[in-house]
Amino acid sequence: MEKTVRIGVFGCRRGKTYIKALRLGKIRGARVTALCDRDPERMEKCAEYCYRGRLAPARYTDAEEFFSSGKFDAVILCNYFHQHAEYAVRALRSGIHVLSETMAAATLSDAAFLCEAAEQSRAVYMMAENYPYTRGNFELRRLYREGTLGKLLFAEGEYIHPMNPKDNAEISVKDENGYYHWRKYLPVTYYSSHSLAPLIFMTGEMPKRVVAMSAADDPAHAAEYGRLKPDAVGVMLVTTDKGAVMRINGSSYMGIRGNWYRLGCVRGGAETVRGDQAQVRVGYNSWTIPEGTEQVRTYEAVWPDGAEGAENCGHGGGDWWVMKKFIDAVRGKDDPFPDVYTAAAMSAVGILGYRSILNGNIPYDIPDFRDPAAREALKDDRQSPFPPDKTF
Ligand SMILES: NC(=O)c1ccc[n+]([C@@H]2O[C@H](COP(=O)([O-])OP(=O)(O)OC[C@H]3O[C@@H](n4cnc5c(N)ncnc54)[C@H](O)[C@@H]3O)[C@@H](O)[C@H]2O)c1
Repeated sequence: MEKTVRIGVFGCRRGKTYIKALRLGKIRGARVTALCDRDPERMEKCAEYCYRGRLAPARYTDAEEFFSSGKFDAVILCNYFHQHAEYAVRALRSGIHVLSETMAAATLSDAAFLCEAAEQSRAVYMMAENYPYTRGNFELRRLYREGTLGKLLFAEGEYIHPMNPKDNAEISVKDENGYYHWRKYLPVTYYSSHSLAPLIFMTGEMPKRVVAMSAADDPAHAAEYGRLKPDAVGVMLVTTDKGAVMRINGSSYMGIRGNWYRLGCVRGGAETVRGDQAQVRVGYNSWTIPEGTEQVRTYEAVWPDGAEGAENCGHGGGDWWVMKKFIDAVRGKDDPFPDVYTAAAMSAVGILGYRSILNGNIPYDIPDFRDPAAREALKDDRQSPFPPDKTF
């Protein structure tokens, strides 16, 4: 019989989602054995939620005690947005498998060190990007790979998640060093993997270059809510290694919440239907309709095989798929996606997209994170919009 994978959860707000995915999604062969959060109250709520008192996980408020406890084989990093890479490197160097929330690395230097650590470790690294794994996005991937749509020309990925600035302000308070919480500083382009990852998952095409623009918040609105960051929407154009163009956009305003994805190809196109992550629309040019197919049709996508627990879990089933794929990858039964190179490239798109905005919308090349020389050249590039890290 296979050994149970013992899981440590680092950060108990988002971390709860994965505990839910394991339990409600009935993912076998893995168990949460340790939790860490510097907020003990939050951690206790999470622990209760874990197994309703049975097989209670070990609890730590100190990160170093947690990582050196020997209580887990794999860690889920749900700590602060801009501090995943340092803990991922720490874990990989100790042979601990890593599932890291977005973003994977907040600087190009972090991304370079992260790839190097993953290469040198026998442990698995996967990014916890959940939006590739909705019903509609699985179907777009299947359609694209079936081949009737032809070569990819243009793709679009959009993630709109209005977040009440009042709620945002409540969880963005200052820490003991006088720094606000990461959400106060977050440039829109940094939160772009929800828009970009599904397109990479569908097509296998990797980002090569990025150019970006942003629209500023309305000053009166920003003042009313005490916002620190001026950008309210970020739009990036990304060229791929196979010559296609992707438009990636995101915002935490704009009223209508939702994700939307589109593939525009030589012979036809396919898109998810706005407002319903399970509906798909596919169409062909009048002269390229495959035999026996309608020119345009809209239908509800079905899950691929093996999705038994997905409907019980959040983000359109994506949270369940992330957990399942990670456990399968740890067991050597599946490849992680996004792997470390894809995760680093997506981080670079967000980082360099922001740099493009700050520097008059000039384009930047996305580094090849598989190339040790390219990584070496990035190790001193620590430019970051987040405050310097005194706490850790
Ligand atoms: N994929 C998704 O759909 C999705 C959804 C929500 C959040 N996220 C991501 O998950 C991550 C966490 O999000 P959140 O909303 O829970 O963030 P948060 O900042 O509200 O919570 C982070 C938690 O980690 C704890 N923590 C941070 N550093 C620590 C340390 N060194 N030692 C002990 N505890 C520490 C904090 O006390 C806090 O409870 C972020 O990267 C976010 O982008 C992803």
